Amino acid sequence: MNNRQLLDMAIAAKEKAYAPYSGVAVGAALLTTSGEVYCGVNVENASYGATNCAERTAVFKAISEGHNDFVKIAVASNLKDIIMPCGICRQVMLEFAQSDFEVIVGDAETCQSYRLSDLLPNSFNRCDLKGE
Ligand code: THU
Repeated sequence: MNNRQLLDMAIAAKEKAYAPYSGVAVGAALLTTSGEVYCGVNVENASYGATNCAERTAVFKAISEGHNDFVKIAVASNLKDIIMPCGICRQVMLEFAQSDFEVIVGDAETCQSYRLSDLLPNSFNRCDLKGE
């Protein structure tokens, strides 16, 4: 599964977003180390704070199906500018990310790759809880 293929899955997934309040439709496609892809969309709520982002939907779907080791995630939206994962999603992805976990963003023409460790430097993670 190359980056372009994974991003195309995120682009397709965004069509299922539930975003009646912001109008921002986001799709994510998460690749596990065993080769499965879990897609997710943002799910908004009349109580705005109850909204769940597309990235977290994909992560929670994978975890609930027994997969907790991830290689990369692709994210796309219907905005003109390329969307980057929010801070909460970066932190949630970090929980399960390999050290070289990649975040792929873009659209039909553009495909960019970032290391999560660059998007969330000096992070707090589970090792800190154990004093490791
Ligand atoms: N959103 C995501 O799904 N992922 C992000 O990383 C950023 C924001 C969603 C949340 C909300 O439904 C809409 O985009 C506008 O913030």
